[in-house]
Amino acid sequence: MYICPLCRQPLPLTGRQYRCASNHSFDLAKEGYVNLLPVQQKNSKDPGDNKLMIDARRAFLESAAYQPLSDAVNKLVLQAAAATVLDLGCGEGYYSGRLQQASEQAIRLSGIDISKAAVKYAARHYPAIDFAVASAYQLPFADNSFDSIIRIYAPSDNSELQRVIKPQGRLISVNPGPNHLLEMKQAVYHEVKLHSDQIKDEPGFSHIQRQQLSYQLNISEPQQLDNLLQMVPLAWKFTSETRQAFIAATRTISIDFLLDVYQSEHVLS
Ligand SMILES: C[S@@+](CC[C@H](N)C(=O)[O-])C[C@H]1O[C@@H](n2cnc3c(N)ncnc32)[C@H](O)[C@@H]1O
Ligand SMILES: [Zn+2]
Repeated sequence: MYICPLCRQPLPLTGRQYRCASNHSFDLAKEGYVNLLPVQQKNSKDPGDNKLMIDARRAFLESAAYQPLSDAVNKLVLQAAAATVLDLGCGEGYYSGRLQQASEQAIRLSGIDISKAAVKYAARHYPAIDFAVASAYQLPFADNSFDSIIRIYAPSDNSELQRVIKPQGRLISVNPGPNHLLEMKQAVYHEVKLHSDQIKDEPGFSHIQRQQLSYQLNISEPQQLDNLLQMVPLAWKFTSETRQAFIAATRTISIDFLLDVYQSEHVLS
């Protein structure tokens, strides 16, 4: 199912090694993932989210704070009866792990992320899902591979999405809604700029559904807020004083997600 990131030929698995016809080979790591990110595609020594961010995100997600989002994504994927699904920028696998649990039919799930630490974690925790370290800008998959792609807060390249999605396949995209983490913004900006709620154009896809998911998250303990702060870019705007004050004073926080479903305009000829 993978293609070689160097020459784009099929990359079958033999034993514990993926190898293409030109003899490029990639080992299956002991955790069960494969690193398909050639040095040429790395923009830094250790690209993507680092271990600290991943641990914080994991701890936050395990508090069930974003479970309603995971449930909503699962519903959208399952309603389309997808058999092959890609989790793009999968992080440590929280959403694909829950998707697999929720599906009664067998789904073939793949996840890619540029962060090795994230993929390592994901592979260890969800052995039934195929995880690879790879770039969203050069996906290591053959054309027409997936019925659905989920993209939760992750970067992507439109032509790669068009290439790997099956005819009439679906892209489920999650982005912050206008009021997402509003209290956090109010703590650091004089003038708060809300996230846009414009529907983003995805060439080659038609937008078919939007769902807004908004709720007030009750902060169960200061550590939960601390974890949330570590996983969002906005955290850099805080000083250690404003951060402490914010954590001490905040009891609820606005969560606001926009879930957009697109369908590939490509039809089987
Ligand atoms: C905000 S996180 C979201 C992770 C996960 N979808 C979630 O919501 O928990 C964005 C993820 O995209 C990954 N990422 C960043 N640039 C990437 C790229 N070029 N290709 C693949 N993944 C990338 C990061 O490592 C990170 O795990
Ligand atoms: Zn090759």
